[in-house]
Amino acid sequence: MIDRLDKIRTEAEKAIQDAESMEALQELRVRFLGRKGELTRVLRGLKDLPGDRRAVAGQAANRLKSDLEAFLELKLAQLKESELNRQLQEERIDVTLPGVPVNSGRKHPLTQVLDEIKNIFTSMGFEIAEGPEIELDYYNFEALNIPRDHPARDMQDSFYITEEVLLRTHTSPVQVRTMEKKRPHLPVRIIAPGKVYRRDDDATHSPMFHQVEGLVLDENITFADLKGTLMSFARRVFREDVRVRFRTSFFPFTEPSAEMDISCVACGGKGCRVCSQTGWLEILGAGMVNPKVLAMSGYDPEEVTGFAFGMGVERIAMLKYDVNDLRLFFDNDIRFLTQF
Ligand code: PHE
Repeated sequence: MIDRLDKIRTEAEKAIQDAESMEALQELRVRFLGRKGELTRVLRGLKDLPGDRRAVAGQAANRLKSDLEAFLELKLAQLKESELNRQLQEERIDVTLPGVPVNSGRKHPLTQVLDEIKNIFTSMGFEIAEGPEIELDYYNFEALNIPRDHPARDMQDSFYITEEVLLRTHTSPVQVRTMEKKRPHLPVRIIAPGKVYRRDDDATHSPMFHQVEGLVLDENITFADLKGTLMSFARRVFREDVRVRFRTSFFPFTEPSAEMDISCVACGGKGCRVCSQTGWLEILGAGMVNPKVLAMSGYDPEEVTGFAFGMGVERIAMLKYDVNDLRLFFDNDIRFLTQF
């Protein structure tokens, strides 16, 4: 019996020592210690031995069993470790390989210009306000002193949803919504960037485009404040040496009204194709808030004055980047967009 145990020990130890994989080790565990394993068979045969020999052999067999179990554990740990080392060696990343370039996106040129405009005005103390793109006739026209028969209300110009609801044709309704919300608070200094819609479609007009509205209200605001603010803006968004001029104009919601031109960014004012030989480029509409509009929105025109302005973002982007067709901004051709 003892001889048989010694034979099993020698055989098992050698086999475990030589095992090259965890699967092989598992097979050995079954072969020696499993239910039908060699050692198990010996243990079963013990009952046939006479008492004194049974005790000796039983002890030896149990010792062998626990020795083999311990050895199997040890070998398993060794195999695991060498497997890990192999992985670390073979699967090591070669940091000298050339990298795979990552295509990173970028902001759309209009978003870049919008961000820049917002930065300029917020740095002057303006807040950013927002209003709905689907707007009531009251805010888009009525409260801005645009009478029923005004041509801007024409079906040719606006997208109507019902008689009283339309896609806003400008950002000026945000002036009214802001005044209703803030009254009687002063000062009011907001810009309202956003999308606007008109039934227009050619190289310089798109049915959807972007505007930035501005509104400043306080006691003693004058046209000089309007000029100073918009001149600083023009210098920052175009170039420090740009010149501005104000021409009289008309908007129902401002009085007096003006349009601001800048000296041509292409020729510096000498006259060229871009400025139709005039040396000037129109960039925005503005004016002192009409007292009627102030009164309708709950501010006392005797106490409060203010100015408002509105500019087209696409127009500014076209001038800044020398783009001659507005539709390029919306075609989403990657060859165009990656130039900015
Ligand atoms: N809302 C006017 C337009 O779209 C622009 C404007 C805004 C003019 C504010 C004066 C004051 O043409």
